[in-house]
Amino acid sequence: MELEVIALAFGGRGVARLDQVWLVAGALPGERVQVEEERRRRGVVEGRAVRVLHPSPWREAEPCPQAGTTCGGCDFAHVAYRFREQAYKASLAGALRGAPESLRRAVEQGSFFPSPWHYRLRGRLHWDPQQGQLGFFAPRSHRVANLKGCRVLSQELVALLPHWAKVLGAASFPAGEVEFLEDLAARQRLVLFRGMRPGAPPELPGVQGFWNLHGGGWGERELFLALPEPLVVPLGSFVQGNRFLLEPLWCTVAEVVRDGGFDRVVDLYGGVGFLAAAAWQGGARQVRVVEVSRRAAAAAQKNLPRAQVWATQAEAAVQQGVLEEAQLLILDPPRGGLSPLVRRAAERAKLQAVLYLSCDPACLARDSQGLVRRGFQVVWAKLFDLFAGTHHVELAVLFQRA
Ligand SMILES: C[S@@+](CC[C@H](N)C(=O)[O-])C[C@H]1O[C@@H](n2cnc3c(N)ncnc32)[C@H](O)[C@@H]1O
Repeated sequence: MELEVIALAFGGRGVARLDQVWLVAGALPGERVQVEEERRRRGVVEGRAVRVLHPSPWREAEPCPQAGTTCGGCDFAHVAYRFREQAYKASLAGALRGAPESLRRAVEQGSFFPSPWHYRLRGRLHWDPQQGQLGFFAPRSHRVANLKGCRVLSQELVALLPHWAKVLGAASFPAGEVEFLEDLAARQRLVLFRGMRPGAPPELPGVQGFWNLHGGGWGERELFLALPEPLVVPLGSFVQGNRFLLEPLWCTVAEVVRDGGFDRVVDLYGGVGFLAAAAWQGGARQVRVVEVSRRAAAAAQKNLPRAQVWATQAEAAVQQGVLEEAQLLILDPPRGGLSPLVRRAAERAKLQAVLYLSCDPACLARDSQGLVRRGFQVVWAKLFDLFAGTHHVELAVLFQRA
């Protein structure tokens, strides 16, 4: 089957129309591709480009040879580095269809922060004892890819993986997920085994601490990230996963606080306090951090000794008045965006500005509708290439009261 690709859907697939709509993995707008059908559902045919007959100028000349075939880690590996911005913006156009017009315009015009390869400082790999392999799953399969030559993980980590696989195999580790956390220089790393295994884990080369999710382990349990203010991150807690873009994100937040002269800032999904620490450095005098995970909240308190850390759900915190007196609200919710309760509280609070970070454009579109209805204007949007190689992109949007 040969198809002309006319657009890019959010999720990274090329869109083509024949008698039906086709979503084609590995295809770019303007391309003519030979497609293999994968499945049909809800009136849409999903397929995969098996040959490119007429390539787009956006196409990467030397993509990772495993991407889309044996490894499902990168679904945008076929997009050339210098065209990533256009590709993200094209795919966001559809995902933001339900957003206020001002947000769509801001994203179209938004500045883009690209990422080099080997950026990942945190992630989860699958361990398959039968294959004796640690890696990402192949597309639509539970077969684990060999990550030799991976462009996403640090080169130091890629070199260690075969040694780790040997150790896990020799210690008869059952199937499970292996979470890693690295420092910015990729010199130190911690590992968490998210599977069922009693007893202390063995030594792993290049690792300063190895823990089981359900107790037992050895060595360090937290790492320092050398940011403008060094941050401690416990193993298993959330931290933005791109070592190269932590600093531009930090500077963006600090600049928002400095330029707006915001003294009182609330970070409602604070993690270990990364964005709140940037707000502090930007000049905020009263910083409140809300975080549901006790371990992350404790780290946030260590990182920001002068902040008020609320170790609770955002929903409970807004009901207990955390937004009272706040001037700037920072929102970086998990996928799924804001709950109706938090959304209403944010819309009704007497805030001067909201800085919303999201990798889920449909939820961002929904949540910004209410803010715009309540008199907020979109000042700018910025795109951070936090997940380079994949169709995901982080959007930061500044809303200000008119
Ligand atoms: C996307 S992360 C953002 C973390 C932080 N802003 C950062 O940049 O590192 C979302 C955080 O929200 C926390 N979280 C999830 N649901 C929550 C809720 N209902 N209330 C408060 N925190 C929540 C998670 O534990 C996680 O640390």
